[in-house]
Amino acid sequence: MQLKALILAAGKGTRMKSDLPKVIHLVNGVPMVQKILNELKKIDTEENILILGHKKEEILAKIKDVSYVVQEEQLGTGHAIMQAKELLKDYEGDVMILCGDTPLLRSETLEKMYNYHKENGCTTTVLTAIYENPFGYGRIVKENGDVVGIVEEKEASEEIKKIKEVNAGVYCCNSKELFKALDRIDNNNEKGEYYLTDIIGIQVKDGKKVSSFVLEDSEEILGVNSKVELAQASRVLRERKNKELMEEGVILIDPATTYIEETVKIGKDTVIYPGVILQGNTVIGENCEIIGNTRIIDSTLKNNIRVESSVIEESILEDKVTMGPFAHLRPKAHLKEKVHIGNFVEVKKSTLEPGVKAGHLTYLGNATVGKDTNIGAGTITCNYDGVNKFDTHIGEKVFIGSSTMLVAPVNIGDNALTGAGSVITKDVPEDSLAVERNKQLIKLKWRK
Ligand code: UD1
Ligand code: CA
Repeated sequence: MQLKALILAAGKGTRMKSDLPKVIHLVNGVPMVQKILNELKKIDTEENILILGHKKEEILAKIKDVSYVVQEEQLGTGHAIMQAKELLKDYEGDVMILCGDTPLLRSETLEKMYNYHKENGCTTTVLTAIYENPFGYGRIVKENGDVVGIVEEKEASEEIKKIKEVNAGVYCCNSKELFKALDRIDNNNEKGEYYLTDIIGIQVKDGKKVSSFVLEDSEEILGVNSKVELAQASRVLRERKNKELMEEGVILIDPATTYIEETVKIGKDTVIYPGVILQGNTVIGENCEIIGNTRIIDSTLKNNIRVESSVIEESILEDKVTMGPFAHLRPKAHLKEKVHIGNFVEVKKSTLEPGVKAGHLTYLGNATVGKDTNIGAGTITCNYDGVNKFDTHIGEKVFIGSSTMLVAPVNIGDNALTGAGSVITKDVPEDSLAVERNKQLIKLKWRK
């Protein structure tokens, strides 16, 4: 396919009232312009070129694998595209022009539009939508059904303002013809800007074929200019994602209060309760139950898992793990089959072998815990001496008594046992009991 994309992203985005450049604000977890690049990737454009200006370094720090040109001063959309002239001087194919702030456009729409453009041998095809309230948009002026020009709101006569077909701001253009026409536009208009839209009138006068391609779902061109519209766009993307998941067999009890980012994958018959947030590269298997106020980031959960009111970051949970309420997995926790961690248990950079139980009030960090071991309430791996981190290794079928302090580095052998309240600083051999505790003192009738 001889198609490259040009994405306008040089503007200040003043109405966002933000220090962050507009096009890297997140829509359902993805930077807006990245969302557009993701859609372009699906239609396999050979190059994507951003037109950057305002805070370009911040944008480039977030967005990888793109070409870009710089528009130092924002003198209008036509001027913006002109900045790519040099880069495309030897290019004979088509370009698709899009804006960095319209994250709802779907690849299907872009593909259909491009096919229409090719099949009809158009010089330029403009994407349009029919709006009941077209205020603010460029109007598509037609004669006998053919596009003859685009008139911006500011220059529109009363008659033209009544036109409901508006310019969506997406175009397919023959690259050579685009730059030829751009050489001839001026800024003699109300805004004193070089309008990209003026190429339409110029090309029509030259007898070139210019067409419009009407959007089926006009919601797709929602432009994000404010934080209100940012929330609207995120909501639409969430609804699309939720619908897609339900169609694949996931059960969402209340989609409206379920927050699942685009990148997340979920298997069939898994039930997601209200108030759940699933983010990043999270993958959840089949038949799981993810219950209220749970947030899962960049983690893998296999099948038949139950998680309630918990936070999971960059961790792995194998089949039939149960977790929560109120448990926290920090990066690199690996819970193997049938592990249970309960109320107020935190696990970090630790592997818990199958069947391990830590039901209450425990911290396991930099630890390995063998099969079927039970960790009593209030147990802590004291893994940090203020300077360095140390490891704790606990064997299989161990019974760690409640409130044991395991001062790392320390090893507990298979089938060993620690007495409640012990501070364990030395290795415990297998099958042994370790108790570290003063003798209990009793003073009879002391209160009297
Ligand atoms: C533009 C179209 C209008 C269309 C509307 C759709 C023109 C003249 N008008 O109007 O017909 O209905 O989009 O949303 O093109 N930008 C730059 N450099 C500039 C100017 C703008 O990069 O010098 C970027 C902006 O950051 C923005 C995009 O181009 O992402 C559109 O510019 P904007 O000024 O918002 O155009 P509209 O007035 O919305
Ligand atoms: Ca705009």
